[in-house]
This record gives sequence, structure tokens and C-alpha cells, in this order.
Amino acid sequence: MNTKISEIADGIYRLSTFVPDIAPPAGFTFNQFLVLGDEPLMFHTGLRKMFALNRDAVSRIIPPERLRWIAFGHYEADECGAMNEWLAVAPNAEVAHGQTGCLVSLNDMADRAPRVLQDGEVIDLGRGKRVRYIDTPHTPHGWDAGVMFEESTGTLLCGDLFTQLGDGPSQTQGDIVGPAIVAEDLFQYSALAPGMGAAIRALAKFNPRTLALMHGPSFTGDGAAALRALADDYDRRLRGRLSMAA
Ligand SMILES: [Fe+2]
Ligand SMILES: [Fe+2]
Repeated sequence: MNTKISEIADGIYRLSTFVPDIAPPAGFTFNQFLVLGDEPLMFHTGLRKMFALNRDAVSRIIPPERLRWIAFGHYEADECGAMNEWLAVAPNAEVAHGQTGCLVSLNDMADRAPRVLQDGEVIDLGRGKRVRYIDTPHTPHGWDAGVMFEESTGTLLCGDLFTQLGDGPSQTQGDIVGPAIVAEDLFQYSALAPGMGAAIRALAKFNPRTLALMHGPSFTGDGAAALRALADDYDRRLRGRLSMAA
């Protein structure tokens, strides 16, 4: 396995590792995002067992010990399995997450106390980079779920939203909703909570120009339209499930 690096927005790097054995024959990617600034932030730690790969990839961009913030969407191995490994190599790094994630998991599981972020709170990374944390409980799964939005580049670090199969290009301007529907049909990874469509639709108000997918290419274009289309599909799924149960 190797990790490919590409700059998907000014100062935001995608570190992508393709695993052909997951959902063959298409395979599956795991992407980490490094946001540069005076206080560099990594969004997703990667799997614990991929730590060496990701550390080596980060070290091609910055010395890993310079990392200041370790953030991710929710408590799960691909999102945060290597958080304590990163805390060990970066002495000034802090895990930053929403209140629920800190109370439910991170106060106990992180080797150093996490920074608790309120819904909507901004971390100023310096050099113009500002990341806003947004709670998205149960969307796509996990009570603790959230996303981050980098304001200067209009990049939504959207985690598992729009998950797709395959080893596509690092960036696309094409359709990401159709491939997300295919992957949801296969994995059924979302919680299908009643508020899911509304939570995704609410992210459209940020008008993201780039959607940084954890499992898929980074999309550039009308992010709000893609979010609304994905929200509509989850509403459709939920209505379908409710009518089956009636
Ligand atoms: Fe997940
Ligand atoms: Fe994930």
C-alpha cells in the first residue's frame, strides 16, 4: 500500500490510501486531510494500523511533530484509530472534537485531554485558515458526529458523507451523489435518523466550493447543490423505510 498526496485546495492536502481488499473488485480509499497554517490541523487520524503510512505521508509535507490539532468526524477506527500515536509524535497537538464525542469517548480514550468545541466554534489556524466545527448528531452515524468547514477555501471536511467505492481521481467536478447512493445501498452505513436529511441540507448554507470526502475524490463545484441532492436521497430512504414499517 502507498499513500498518494495531492493539494485539493490552497494549503489543504489529501493523503489517500487505497485498499483493494475492501468491497472488491472496486476497493475503497481512506483519506486524511492536512490543513496547513501556523497551527496545522489533521482531519482524520487514519487507522491505527496505517499510522506509519500516514506519518510518512505527512512528513513529506511538514515535520509531523508540528501538528497542533487532531480532529475527525466521529469516534471510529478509520476516523481516529491512530489519535494516540499522533499525540505521541506531536507534543503540542490536541485532539479537538464536539462536546458529545469528548464526554462519551475522548475524555477517556485520548492520552491527553481533548479540546471541547461548541457547535459552530472556530479554531484560527493562522495564515488565514479558520476551521469551524459543526455538530451533525447521528449523521451519517454516531451520536458524536460532526464535520469541519475551512472558511478561506470554502472546504467542507465532510467525513463519511458521500462515501463511494473505488480508487478514483484525487479531484472531480463530476457527479458524487450517484456514487454515494451506490455505496449506501451496498454498505447501509448511515443511521437513517429522522433528522439526517435536514442536517445535511443545513450544511448547504456554507456554500462549500470543495467537498473533501473521506472515502472518495474531493469534489469541486456547487457543494450546496450536491448536499441538497444527498439530503433528498436520505429523505427518500427514510420515507421508504417508514412506509415498509407501517
Ligand atoms: Fe464512520
Ligand atoms: Fe470513515
